Amino acid sequence: MDKPNKLSMLTISLHWIIGILIMGLCAAGVYMTRAEAWDLYPIHKSLGVLVLSAALLRVLWRIKNGWPAPVADYSRLEHLAAKVVKWVLIIGTIALPVSGMLFSGASGHGFGIFSLVLVPAQHMPGNPAEVLAYSEFWARAGASIHQATAYILIAAILLHVAGAGKHHFIDKDATLNRMLNK
Ligand code: HEM
Repeated sequence: MDKPNKLSMLTISLHWIIGILIMGLCAAGVYMTRAEAWDLYPIHKSLGVLVLSAALLRVLWRIKNGWPAPVADYSRLEHLAAKVVKWVLIIGTIALPVSGMLFSGASGHGFGIFSLVLVPAQHMPGNPAEVLAYSEFWARAGASIHQATAYILIAAILLHVAGAGKHHFIDKDATLNRMLNK
């Protein structure tokens, strides 16, 4: 279990695995849509589904273990900002992959985890290069939610990194070192 001065290995591992994968997936997502890098799509989707499993495990761990306590007393404003950012991060890490799955599934493109197919693509009869949506409505909803959530999550990650930097370099407290198991 987490203690105020020492976090469990599960908390630390999930934090860095999810954090690094999410930042990589955000960069890959923005790049692949702009550059039409189609080869990246299956990798993005597979890693995204794996992030969802890790994010769900983290939610269960948070329910059992609670949030790590702050290492010192901060102003009410700082507490509030930290609380909002951590909720946006935890909800975003679930909503982003779920909306990606909704978009890819409903649009007929399908998705899976590498060679394991979870929702098959629906090819147009007579023209297998084109796909047929299972539901235009849910495909559009999934795409809009995925894009909006991605940019909200990117903003929250930037605030989170800025907050960690403030704790480490200005307050000179143990917040970052605790997450580095130092
Ligand atoms: C935490 C995991 C994920 C992150 C951080 C992420 C992030 C992103 C980002 C930033 C974009 C670019 C949005 C834009 O500028 O239009 C994107 C696009 C996309 N993502 Fe994800 N994504 C994740 C999971 C998934 C999953 C699980 C799937 C599907 C199974 C998926 C499918 C897609 C697709 C198909 C696009 C391209 C959208 C388009 O062509 O307009 N993503 N993603």
